[in-house]
Amino acid sequence: MMNESQDARYQKWEEKTRRLLEKSPERKERFETLSGIEVKRLYNRGKSVEEMDEQVGLPGEYPYTRGIHPTMYRSRYWTMRQYAGFGSAAETNKRFRYLLEQGQTGLSVAFDLPTQIGYDSDDPMALGEVGKVGVAIDSLKDMEKLFEDIPLDQVSTSMTINAPAAVLLAMYIAVAEKQGVQPHQIRGTIQNDILKEYIARGTYIFPPQPSMRLITDIFAYCAEHVPKWNTISISGYHIREAGSTAVQEVAFTLANGIAYVEAAIAAGLHVDQFAPRLSFFFNAHNHFFEEIAKFRAARRLWAKIMKERFRASNERSLQLRFHTQTGGSTLTAQQPDNNIVRVTLQALAAVLGGTQSLHTNARDEALALPTEESARIALRTQQIIAYESGVADTVDPLGGSYYIEELTDAIEREALRYIEKIDEMGGAVQAVEQGFMQREIHRVALETQRKIEAGTEIVVGVNRFCIENEVQPQIMRMDPELAKRQMEELRQVRANRDQEEVKSKLARLKRAAEGTDNLMPHILEAVKSYATVGEICNALREVFGEYQPV
Ligand code: 3HC
Repeated sequence: MMNESQDARYQKWEEKTRRLLEKSPERKERFETLSGIEVKRLYNRGKSVEEMDEQVGLPGEYPYTRGIHPTMYRSRYWTMRQYAGFGSAAETNKRFRYLLEQGQTGLSVAFDLPTQIGYDSDDPMALGEVGKVGVAIDSLKDMEKLFEDIPLDQVSTSMTINAPAAVLLAMYIAVAEKQGVQPHQIRGTIQNDILKEYIARGTYIFPPQPSMRLITDIFAYCAEHVPKWNTISISGYHIREAGSTAVQEVAFTLANGIAYVEAAIAAGLHVDQFAPRLSFFFNAHNHFFEEIAKFRAARRLWAKIMKERFRASNERSLQLRFHTQTGGSTLTAQQPDNNIVRVTLQALAAVLGGTQSLHTNARDEALALPTEESARIALRTQQIIAYESGVADTVDPLGGSYYIEELTDAIEREALRYIEKIDEMGGAVQAVEQGFMQREIHRVALETQRKIEAGTEIVVGVNRFCIENEVQPQIMRMDPELAKRQMEELRQVRANRDQEEVKSKLARLKRAAEGTDNLMPHILEAVKSYATVGEICNALREVFGEYQPV
């Protein structure tokens, strides 16, 4: 609270400002964040020392507002983990090794759409998409090539795979074993987050119930056999890319997280058995301070949910560990070099928000997959923030800021209101089936597009500061012969494997899917016989059917 003299001084300042406004009015009537939270002219009152201790806390201590580790980047930088993958396994392996040589500290696999939706490269549904937006993986043979000369006991690998996550995880385990690396040694993450696929991204295969079963089978299997593996990356990234606000990104992601925890408990798992290996994935978008506050609010909200709602007692169950990718939807095709500046600001927000792992987009990704040069600049952006800016040298540097703490509180409050509304609907699965989150996102996306078209929301180079007859930069082109070569290699894999063994493994998987077995061991057996992604997913399609969107 202000005392008399502070009050009088503030009134005087207000009066002086009002007079000034007559001569030089402010740019806008109302300033607000992208979530519509008002941005005041000045923040000059904050939390008391007691309120900071009680509501914000210390880094590495519940509710983790200021970070999940006491020392954060002073002990270990975030993982520089660039999402990469295109064409064949051999081509992607080359890009992986290039990025590792350039100093990236974690791998992140982008799969092509046929792989993500459980089709082999020779499936008619794969026509035109083989190796396009990611690497084509048909069988264990491709995975062996993908990780050739990359020791899987020395790296952590993220795989952006959802519906067929169990199949690609099984292949990764099998490749590691071929390298002499045991399942308990491998580290990494599978995205394995089907709810956001229904909401925003679209690479689903099966209906919700069997999809949730596959997810909780992975939780149970990894808890026992692959203890260092992060079994899910509950994603807000794509929800934001679809047009949500920062508040909705936090709310819908954590609501999905609650649904996964409930499903795992319903499947008989104890919360502290799997929760330490849940992880998250957020967007680093525009409005710098809202993004920093968003990450802090998400960490605190998740800690409270896990402690109060699920009575988790292992402190690792309470810690929201997350990866961040800078906002792909903010990249512009016009003046692509401007994107280096956008990505820098967004990456800085992620670091000031306490991310554990980070991908920085390349300047040309609004046009095509990144060239090697663009991918290198994107990685250098992280390295300059880490090694030159000094921002990693103290924990949560903006903590205690009047503005950041007030914004953190506001985002937590608004997100919690959405979560309570979703609870009333019966939870995230029901909310998805009723199309609630989808409608909310589409409403905001439309409003945003209208503001850009009206010029009230400026996109530099797009609706202001444009240049005529811009020369397009060199972009990455795909080899048109790739699909043919991939299909020939797949034909050879099929010709050289023990067909009877494949058939019996697929039959056994189908029987297990009709029952209640954990499916991971059966999927592992099938991939080791060189059954393909498509064959395994088709066997499961025969049992589970396919999801039909609302
Ligand atoms: N003090 C003490 N220990 C510390 C520390 C500190 N300051 N900093 C780190 N550590 C420890 C950690 O505790 C951890 O040890 P543990 O394994 O025993 O817990 C170890 O160091 C490694 O640290 P992290 O686990 O934090 O870092 P990782 O990078 O290994 O993991 C993650 C980060 C978020 C938990 C993990 O889930 C991850 O890597 N996720 C990445 C997901 C991803 O890349 N997704 C990309 C998707 S692309 C996409 O979908 C977009 C497309 O569709 C367009």
